[in-house]
Amino acid sequence: MSFWKWLPSFIFLVSLINLVAIVKSQFPTPIYIHSKCQNNGSYTSNSTYKKNLDTILSSISPNIDTNGFYNASIGEKSDRVNVIAMCRADLQPSQCRRYVRDASIEILNKCPGQKQAILWHEFCMVRYSDEAIFGNVAYSPFDWGNNIENVPDPDKFYQELNILLDSLRNQTAYNRSPKKFAAASRPYPEYRTIYAFEQCTADITPQDCGSCLNQSALEIRQCCDWSRGVRILRPSCYLRFETDPFYNESMV
Ligand SMILES: *[C@@H]1O[C@H](CO)[C@@H](O)[C@H](O)[C@H]1NC(C)=O
Ligand SMILES: *[C@@H]1O[C@H](CO)[C@@H](O)[C@H](O)[C@H]1NC(C)=O
Ligand SMILES: *[C@@H]1O[C@H](CO)[C@@H](O)[C@H](O)[C@H]1NC(C)=O
Ligand SMILES: *[C@@H]1O[C@H](CO)[C@@H](O)[C@H](O)[C@H]1NC(C)=O
Ligand SMILES: *[C@@H]1O[C@H](CO)[C@@H](O)[C@H](O)[C@H]1NC(C)=O
Ligand SMILES: *[C@@H]1O[C@H](CO)[C@@H](O)[C@H](O)[C@H]1NC(C)=O
Repeated sequence: MSFWKWLPSFIFLVSLINLVAIVKSQFPTPIYIHSKCQNNGSYTSNSTYKKNLDTILSSISPNIDTNGFYNASIGEKSDRVNVIAMCRADLQPSQCRRYVRDASIEILNKCPGQKQAILWHEFCMVRYSDEAIFGNVAYSPFDWGNNIENVPDPDKFYQELNILLDSLRNQTAYNRSPKKFAAASRPYPEYRTIYAFEQCTADITPQDCGSCLNQSALEIRQCCDWSRGVRILRPSCYLRFETDPFYNESMV
């Protein structure tokens, strides 16, 4: 009996134990990372843009506010870098700082040399550009992720889901708190309880926030019809639903 024969199952077991550890210590999902490089201009490694970008990205984690939002600019003209960072609203400030630090490092790995990029980490978003981005609603670039398990009756399921999403939209857009978010669950006895979370960046108007979330709700059946869990990732708004709890309910 060779050790090598058992190695794959051993690795599998170790990964499984790690996965369970993540699930227990955090929310019931591993950390997924999505990114989009905008291919709209590039910088060289010895440029002033690169120097400004490094400076501003490393300023996010120490300076992000307790509401989990950060915006800043550095440099002049074509060397100017604007950055926006946002944490999911149910995080503790210490978690927020840790995840935006990870995301600020990762965005450089994902989009080397790019003057415009966005990265959605499981728990936060980091975005930079040479163009002004603060206060301007942005629907694109966008991305999505979905659960590969299907719902039994999508028409009924999505009807229930839309009732929940419709009720969260104005709560998010008109939230009096600086954290523009709302989350809730809705029992759906024919299948499973639906949990949903919506959030906008703090720099856009309530109208823009509502339209952004509307677009995202419309996207669900386009990208991911039948799926029992979907996230729609845009620069200005975040929408996610699952049929398992995934956010910290005591922060809502
Ligand atoms: C690229 O940048 C130019 C000017 O900086 C802008 O007009 C254009 O919309 C951008 N294109 C994309 C795809 O972002
Ligand atoms: C950066 O390096 C390239 C060659 O690798 C050189 O042509 C360019 O002049 C340098 N730019 C600056 C701003 O030093
Ligand atoms: C960052 O956001 C604040 C409001 O939250 C605003 O007053 C400030 O001008 C913004 N800074 C930049 C560089 O856009
Ligand atoms: C959401 O807010 C808009 C603008 O204030 C309003 O017209 C609309 O009726 C509201 N929708 C719901 C469901 O409350
Ligand atoms: C979102 O869409 C609903 C109908 O699907 C509409 O009643 C509502 O006014 C829209 N809200 C915004 C802010 O666009
Ligand atoms: C959820 O939030 C509470 C505070 O409201 C905090 O004590 C708890 O540690 C959080 N849970 C997780 C898993 O972060």
